[in-house]
Formats: sequence, structure tokens, C-alpha cells
Amino acid sequence: MGLNIGIIGCGYVGTAVARRWREDGHSITATTTRGDRREELEEVAQQVVVLQGNDSEALASMVQNQDVILLSVAPPRGGDYQETYLETAKTLVPVLQQSPRVQQVIYTSSSSVYGDHQGEWVDETTLVSPGNPNARVLAQTEEVLLSAQSDRLDVCILRLAGIYGPERELLKIFTRFAGKTRPGTGEYWSNWVHLEDIVEAIALVCRQRCAGIYNLVNDVPQPMRQLMDRLCEFHNLAPISWDPSVPLERSYHLRLSNQKLKRAGFELRYPETLL
Ligand SMILES: NC(=O)c1ccc[n+]([C@@H]2O[C@H](COP(=O)([O-])OP(=O)(O)OC[C@H]3O[C@@H](n4cnc5c(N)ncnc54)[C@H](OP(=O)(O)O)[C@@H]3O)[C@@H](O)[C@H]2O)c1
Repeated sequence: MGLNIGIIGCGYVGTAVARRWREDGHSITATTTRGDRREELEEVAQQVVVLQGNDSEALASMVQNQDVILLSVAPPRGGDYQETYLETAKTLVPVLQQSPRVQQVIYTSSSSVYGDHQGEWVDETTLVSPGNPNARVLAQTEEVLLSAQSDRLDVCILRLAGIYGPERELLKIFTRFAGKTRPGTGEYWSNWVHLEDIVEAIALVCRQRCAGIYNLVNDVPQPMRQLMDRLCEFHNLAPISWDPSVPLERSYHLRLSNQKLKRAGFELRYPETLL
């Protein structure tokens, strides 16, 4: 049976998930803050609603007819995390409490909430220790959403690694660094997940009505320096050099475990990061 699914924040991830769910026979309502995106989103969603995440009335009217909500907002570069994440979550929770039809909320959070763990493996039992103001807002947003968990409503939080995929290839993300010198040694772990695997994981946690926290990452974390070397070599770019005399302050350093999601039945299409 097709579900009614509302997607709040239909950007890179939200749009790909909308397309997949629509193909699976679900009825999608997508939100955007920009009226000029309506036409584009009508290709992946039966309904498009223009709203800001902190608009309680507009959110209530959109949410009440949904069985499932996917929250996948992110600010534009340099945008306000507090407004985008926390205000949206704080507006959404009371709306959910007034919307008995909704059975599950899925939220795409970030593994940055874990903070610095000196490159150790972390899983969902590891305490969060956000190391900068934005990561703290993400951690608070999780807490607000988890407070809505009840017998009737499941809250599922996916902590995503760095996102890459079509139109967001590593080459596109890092090409500006080719031939340049970066601060630090580059000897820190990077964790990645491909867009297609994100879509699959979201479809899975929805099908299984998962609740709680799950990391979402591929199998093979790589030291940044090694990844950059391989990327430059593969694409014939000038190599990147590192300057250890310039310290790099990292508020996030860890290897992210995906074992919990795998135990729930998740299979990666891209276990290793594509160059
Ligand atoms: N990028 C990464 O590597 C990374 C890593 C870990 C986790 N994540 C998380 O993954 C999720 C998906 O990221 P993404 O790459 O798909 O982001 P994205 O492409 O930037 O899309 C996010 C969407 O959020 C919407 N939005 C922004 N502010 C809003 C507000 N105040 N109210 C309602 N909607 C708002 C925007 O919609 P309109 O522009 O249509 O208005 C935008 O399209 C995010 O939650 C992000 O935090 C990302």
C-alpha cells in the first residue's frame, strides 16, 4: 500500500528520495522555501508546498495528511543552522503531536555530532561531543526530535557521513585544492556515503519503521591525505601538499561504524568511496 510521505527540505538528498519513493508507489508532498523551485519539484512529488520550517501553520497543514515525514533540511553555505535545523524541529514536534496520522519521522542528521574521537571507531553507543557551534545545533535538533518518540510515533535519526554522488563527486568537491598546500598533515580520517546508498537506507528504515539512531556511512574510511593523493592521481591533477607547521584545528576526527544499520538489513551498493 502506498504511503503519504511529506519531505521537508527537498534538496540533493530529499529530491533523490522523493524520486525513489514515488517510483515505489508512495504519494509525495515536498516542501521548498522557494516558489521558483515548484516546477522542478513537481517532477518528483505529487504536491509541492512552499514553506519555511518555522511556519507552524503551514507545517501543520502539510503534515497532518502524512503517514511518514522525512526531514532533510540544510542551510545554504554560510546560512543559519539555528534557524534551519533547530527552529524547524521545534516547530515540527508540537505539529506532530497534533497529527495522529503520522507514524514515523526520519531525520538526516550528521556524524559531526560525535565530535573529536582521535580517529577511533564510533558507533551509536558513543557519547556525542559536538566540537563546534553548528554541530551543537545538530545535536540539539536530534534531542528535540527524539522527544517526540511515543507509542504512536517512531523517530529515526540517521547520522550521515560526508555526502557524495552524481553532481557532487569528490572531484567537484576537492578540485580547488589541486596543486595547493593544505594546513596540517592530512593524516585524519574521512568518512563518506554515496547518494544512492542514502536513498536505499532511508527507504529501508521507512519500510522497517525503525526508531532510534543509525549511522549511515560506507565501509572504508580513508585518511584524507591518501584519498586526496589517489583522487589527484586518478584525475591527472597536480598533487596536493600538506604543511604540518600550520596546525589544523579539527572538531571532528573519527571512523564511523555502519554495523547497526547493516544488522537492520542494509546492504551498500558503494562500500568504497568512488574517486
Ligand atoms: N553535505 C554533507 O556532506 C552532509 C553530511 C552529513 C549530513 N548532512 C545532512 O544531510 C541532509 C541532506 O543534505 P542535502 O545535501 O540534501 O542538503 P541540500 O541539498 O542543501 O538541501 C537542503 C534543503 O533544505 C531546505 N531548507 C533550507 N532551509 C530551510 C528552512 N528554513 N525551512 C525549510 N526548508 C529549508 C532547502 O530547500 P529550498 O532551497 O528548496 O528552499 C534545501 O533544498 C541535511 O540534513 C544535512 O544536514 C549533509
